[in-house]
Amino acid sequence: MDIREVAVVGLGTMGAGIAEVFARAGIGVVAIEADPQAMSQGLGHLDASLSKAVSRGKLSAKEQAEIRARIRPAAGFSDAAAVDVAVEVVPERMEIKRQIFAELDRVTSPTAILATNTSSLSVTAIAAATKHPGRVVGMHFFNPAPVMRLVEVVSTLLSDDGVVDTVADLARRLGKTPVQVGDRAGFVANALLLPYLNQALELLEIGYASREDIDMAATAGIGMPMGPLALLDLIGLDTALSIMKVLHAEFGFTRYTPAALLRRLVDAGRTGRKAGRGIYDYADGGGLAETGLTSSAPDTVTLIGSGDAIEAELATALASAGVNVTRNAAHPTELVLIAATAGRPVLPAALAAGRPEQSVGLNPPNGLADGHLVELIHTSLSSEKAMAAAAALAEKLGLTAVRAPDRPGFLVGALLYPHLADAVRMVQDGYATATEVDTAMMLGCGYPQGPFQLLDAAGPSIVLAGLRAMQEAYGFPSLAPPVLLAEHAAAGIQWASGRSGPSSRAGGGG
Ligand code: 3HC
Repeated sequence: MDIREVAVVGLGTMGAGIAEVFARAGIGVVAIEADPQAMSQGLGHLDASLSKAVSRGKLSAKEQAEIRARIRPAAGFSDAAAVDVAVEVVPERMEIKRQIFAELDRVTSPTAILATNTSSLSVTAIAAATKHPGRVVGMHFFNPAPVMRLVEVVSTLLSDDGVVDTVADLARRLGKTPVQVGDRAGFVANALLLPYLNQALELLEIGYASREDIDMAATAGIGMPMGPLALLDLIGLDTALSIMKVLHAEFGFTRYTPAALLRRLVDAGRTGRKAGRGIYDYADGGGLAETGLTSSAPDTVTLIGSGDAIEAELATALASAGVNVTRNAAHPTELVLIAATAGRPVLPAALAAGRPEQSVGLNPPNGLADGHLVELIHTSLSSEKAMAAAAALAEKLGLTAVRAPDRPGFLVGALLYPHLADAVRMVQDGYATATEVDTAMMLGCGYPQGPFQLLDAAGPSIVLAGLRAMQEAYGFPSLAPPVLLAEHAAAGIQWASGRSGPSSRAGGGG
């Protein structure tokens, strides 16, 4: 099928981005938006995006004019009569979507493909409301649409075979990578991303860590392009809440219960960047870092560990930074540093040292190279003074410090392990392969490595032990490690591409 012209229905941020993507690929776009103010905002967004590309030398002024000329604004559906594909990009309300599909069904030719960019609603329910459900599919783009390379192509029980392939080809023509999936709440990317973001908000809500530290743990500790809280502001907290509600309705587990703080922020109208305020305040230029007690780095520290590699690495780094290190807790030092590892609590060692108020755990999840993240672990007895001294010491070592409580997984593991377990459960359910999951998260959400590559890097048995410790500590059934993870850990099987397991669905071996 030769696709020459498409309709994009709804010119919000995503609709404008999607219209830009089609026009850049040489396809004519009928941009339908009934609300004149939304239309002018959407076109403004699109123009700003194109102008930015010109100013960065990515596009010539001539190309910009050609792209813009391919976009034909329209207030109603009659202009969509001759399009080959229509993509609906309106708010996540089933009744609005159904109305739009009824209109598209009426005005377009019966051979036109009707696609929804819904992030979580049932494509099947949308399709079933049309006269030709076989031509209705999901075509799910990611924010910012011109940048993120993933398109989830969602088929329903009613979809005609050829339609899904045509839409996947169209996605390739746009320079995107399609991942073809069945109709299930959240598809691949949102079903994994949103519970992780929601959990980050829960950690903030209970005072587990600060806003900045949670985001820093994800960027500097895991390598994510944005922290989960900043990403929630980008997606929109109202959008995030509606996706969480749909996930909860479909899967039921407590893992999918929207955080109370998410509801409160939405109630307060703090819906993220688009409102100027969400978890961060954008009127102030993105939110100020929280200030804490500052201190100078101690000259002498007591270093306690259990003889593993990290303890030796720390001792060397401290000595190179000119810090005197003693191993004897009886020596009168200002700080007792406990070389911590995920899975081993700090408090017993702090108590054994006899100076728990002066004791702080230190866990560098990725080693001690310059700029790497270090988690400063406070037990319930650590003093603020000791934490400030540890922070000053981390700075002296050239490390990026975040504070985390002495709880299983500390901060990086608390964010990452349940997220990896969700990814394994998705493969175990037979919904997607490990390769599809990795592709979706890398191309849709900018992950540097997919969840299964992250799992391999962390070590399946470490992640398994971390999840077991979290489940034991908190008792939530949703933290129970998936059986497929336990199997892989027991057998020492890796997941990532080129090795075993990724292209096979659950039960297909590893
Ligand atoms: N529109 C157009 N282009 C944009 C843009 C926007 N809104 N934002 C950034 N860009 C472009 C920039 O112009 C730049 O282009 P260039 O390389 O050609 O010069 C490029 O993207 C990189 O931008 P920056 O250098 O300004 O910033 P970063 O390198 O920090 O990247 C980011 C910004 C691409 C947003 C990156 O932080 C990222 O990948 N974040 C994760 C985003 C994510 O997870 N999205 C998915 C959300 S879930 C979703 O959308 C599903 C929905 O259903 C909820």
